[in-house]
Amino acid sequence: MPATVVVGAQWGDEGKGKIVDLLAQRSDVVCRYQGGPNAGHTIVAGGATWKLRQMPTGVISGKTSVIGAGCVVDPHVFLDEVDLLVERGIDPAIVVLSGNAHLIMPWHPAIDQASERRLGKLQIGTTRRGIGPAYADKALRIGIRVQDVLDAKILRQKIEVALAEKNLWLERIYETDGFDLEEVWAEYAGYAERLAPFVGDASLLVDQALRDGKEVLFEGAQATMLDLDHGTYPFVTSSNPVASGAATGIGIGPTRIDRVLGVAKAYATRVGEGPFPSEIEGPDRERLQERGGELGTVTGRVRRCGWLDLVALRYAVRVNGITSLALTKLDVLSGFPEVPVCVAYELRDGTRTPHFPAHQSDFHHARAVWERLPGWDEPLDDASSRDELPDAARRYVEFVERALEVPVELVGVGAARERVLA
Ligand code: IMP
Repeated sequence: MPATVVVGAQWGDEGKGKIVDLLAQRSDVVCRYQGGPNAGHTIVAGGATWKLRQMPTGVISGKTSVIGAGCVVDPHVFLDEVDLLVERGIDPAIVVLSGNAHLIMPWHPAIDQASERRLGKLQIGTTRRGIGPAYADKALRIGIRVQDVLDAKILRQKIEVALAEKNLWLERIYETDGFDLEEVWAEYAGYAERLAPFVGDASLLVDQALRDGKEVLFEGAQATMLDLDHGTYPFVTSSNPVASGAATGIGIGPTRIDRVLGVAKAYATRVGEGPFPSEIEGPDRERLQERGGELGTVTGRVRRCGWLDLVALRYAVRVNGITSLALTKLDVLSGFPEVPVCVAYELRDGTRTPHFPAHQSDFHHARAVWERLPGWDEPLDDASSRDELPDAARRYVEFVERALEVPVELVGVGAARERVLA
């Protein structure tokens, strides 16, 4: 199965980084197809902790690592991560950056911050990294791409065009400072020399790898429920994390994708605003937060915690075409006398549905219908296969498989790379 997409099946932070890191061991190429430095992967590998924001997880194991056209790139973050690779003895020549990826310019975080401030109580709770404004400029066709940096004259023209409008917005609408053309141009033209060796044709490279029978992994950032088209809009990111985004974000046809591995936590978390029907109120929330270390990698914000939501997961199986699941952080559930699972939503008219509501108002008012499964006390440290899990933990996994009609292929029981049971 040479082409595998790994996609977050919930609201992000499912532990995709760790699963991708594991699968990367058997892959030749690892690609990021959307998103930018709003992603935060924490991976513990070979005794070292890695926190990556922009690079594909494949870099940790020295695999060819591709950043596709569907991504937005903060050159500063990218080059910091290049330095990190060098520091840790990994040759950064493994990284290929699509010339068609869009750059995050200094005005993007400024607009992101100002716009959130202006929205006040209606804010999205973005990572403030400029993601939405960068994708908005791409859609408006005034974005600046990686390849533009390689030609100082084109770069200057494009910055000039963009700034003429951005400074008006920043100064007149958001009542904040604008940017100086010379300064921005000097900074970004200065990146050319360092970025140039990484710029390549991501689509051609991946196509060739697949033709040669190589294993290619497509690593989704963020997750299904944060998808711009299929997530809980407007509380979403501005790109397409869903599996089909891998085809457009890299530049291959959808027929090239062989399988889709959905990654879900054994419970649920969400950063930022928006409805969350299986959210926990009360002491169990703090307990999960603490035990699961539920603090955002990028923002440091405490993540909202909930029990597993099978309605949302069923939806993720549908919109991604998930062929198997990885269930992560099962160990965090040890010690709860019982583990509630959201099996359906109760809508405003009192009807119950196993399907994710198509209308936002139904979702906003949906209440979780719970099934309470027996918990387990034992830590999962000793289990070296799924069969060795405590009975109740094993039954929990089987319950998920039955409800979603998808096999759980991997179970995460600890932070380290080897703590994933096949
Ligand atoms: P943005 O991607 O910074 O525009 O943020 C939009 C929404 O996506 C916010 O609710 C963020 O908290 C959420 N988000 C973005 N990246 C991540 C991530 O890597 N994990 C979890 N949530 C994320």
